[in-house]
Amino acid sequence: MAQTGNFKSPARMSTLGGSAEVSASGAVTGGKPRESGLKGVDFERRSFLHKVVGGVGAIVAASTLYPVVKYIIPPVKELKVVKEVKGKLSDVADGTGKIYQFNEDKVIVINKGGALTAVSAVCTHLGCSVHWDNAASELACPCHGAKYKLTGEIISGPQPKPLKPYKAKIDGDSIVITKA
Ligand code: FES
Repeated sequence: MAQTGNFKSPARMSTLGGSAEVSASGAVTGGKPRESGLKGVDFERRSFLHKVVGGVGAIVAASTLYPVVKYIIPPVKELKVVKEVKGKLSDVADGTGKIYQFNEDKVIVINKGGALTAVSAVCTHLGCSVHWDNAASELACPCHGAKYKLTGEIISGPQPKPLKPYKAKIDGDSIVITKA
């Protein structure tokens, strides 16, 4: 079957190369060889596709990694440094202790017979929170058995240092905790 397409069209000629010419007999002379011209077009398309795929991949990777990185690295919290912390006197009944956050430390306020005592609640061994054992009249650490006196001195256990002392006073219906 005979082909009916226009083999001398400008589009066809440009595919063959800009310098191609057609003789009177219809023969094409000059220009790029057919294969090298098509390879160039193919290479440019592939290069463009590589760039598109690479760009999309980078966007997907960034949008996936961003929440993971945000989760792993917690936001920097600015700690507001205070000189005193207040609590309700009714929250610390006689014979009990209550822990308050005091800047970067935790402070336990103990009510023993109406008199308040405050010391750091952070065990000096490995940092667990101590609690007031009223029956034994001592501060006890649940992690490795450290025991402290009401005023924070060591009774027994693996802890290297006593608990840091604080001040606690009654002001009306409130407790006011300050540095010692
Ligand atoms: S952390 Fe308190 S005894 Fe170990």
